[in-house]
Amino acid sequence: VNISHGNSRVTATLPTGESVEVLLFGATVLSWKDASGDEKLWLSENSKLDGSKGVRGGIPLVFPAFGPPDPNHAPTSKLPQHGFARTARWEFLGKSTSEGSSSSSVKLDFGLSPENLDEATRALWPYQFGLLYSVTLDRESLNTTLVISNDGDEPFEFQTLLHTYFRIKDIASVQVSGLENSPYIDKVDGAKSKTEGSSAVTFAGETDRVYTPAKGPKDPVIVSDSGRARFRIVRDNLDQVVVWNPWTEKAAGMGDFTPKDGFRNMVCAEAGSVQGWQKLDKGDAFEGAQTIFLS
Ligand code: BG6
Repeated sequence: VNISHGNSRVTATLPTGESVEVLLFGATVLSWKDASGDEKLWLSENSKLDGSKGVRGGIPLVFPAFGPPDPNHAPTSKLPQHGFARTARWEFLGKSTSEGSSSSSVKLDFGLSPENLDEATRALWPYQFGLLYSVTLDRESLNTTLVISNDGDEPFEFQTLLHTYFRIKDIASVQVSGLENSPYIDKVDGAKSKTEGSSAVTFAGETDRVYTPAKGPKDPVIVSDSGRARFRIVRDNLDQVVVWNPWTEKAAGMGDFTPKDGFRNMVCAEAGSVQGWQKLDKGDAFEGAQTIFLS
């Protein structure tokens, strides 16, 4: 396994050619390629990669709050949308590899704690926390696992989400299945509570929904493109799946979204814990993960 660790990125390539690239800002997975070099993630051409904003693409990590600041949740009400983990500079903690004759894998570990935050951010969210984020690549899948620990004396509450931007051929022929008959909040339609029908989700306009899948976490959420299953997402301890596509107008309104018709080549299916708050008492830890299998 070949690892390169530059000033701002870590790249790992398996002997068979699969690769993953992680930006230290946000520990954001920027790229995931299969053995033929085919990119699996969408990344805007003018994403900010300097920590001034979350990356527009790849897998930004949401913590400790999802969405715009919630005025009714005082501890996170002053934080920026989606929290600070996606812009903070993480530490690369090292790699572990397993090499076999026909298959190998690599795990890259990243850490974030209050010492890595600027003073202003620390003042806005003054808890002693530890985040350990592991990105594991093998021939057929990418696993991202986040362990959140409370290293202080005060309990804290959080939400978290793995905001994956999948690269797809044509949004008009994309289907997301595995969410049939599941309750969801429709953020495009005034945050109304609805229940999905018995067929797969399709896209014909702006879509922004927070699903709580009726099926269990091991039942994959499947992203298909032109009738072919492309990605299977298996969750561990993450109860929601956000499905997002900004469509024409929202994409036009985002300065870091390029090309403007790029929304046709992306769909976000985001595993997270974003409804209500997870509470961590002193000394406790939470682990949440997703594995994305190539189909
Ligand atoms: C999704 C949210 O997870 O992220 C959307 O459900 C939001 O409401 C989108 O627009 C992108 O957020 P941001 O902060 O990266 O522009």
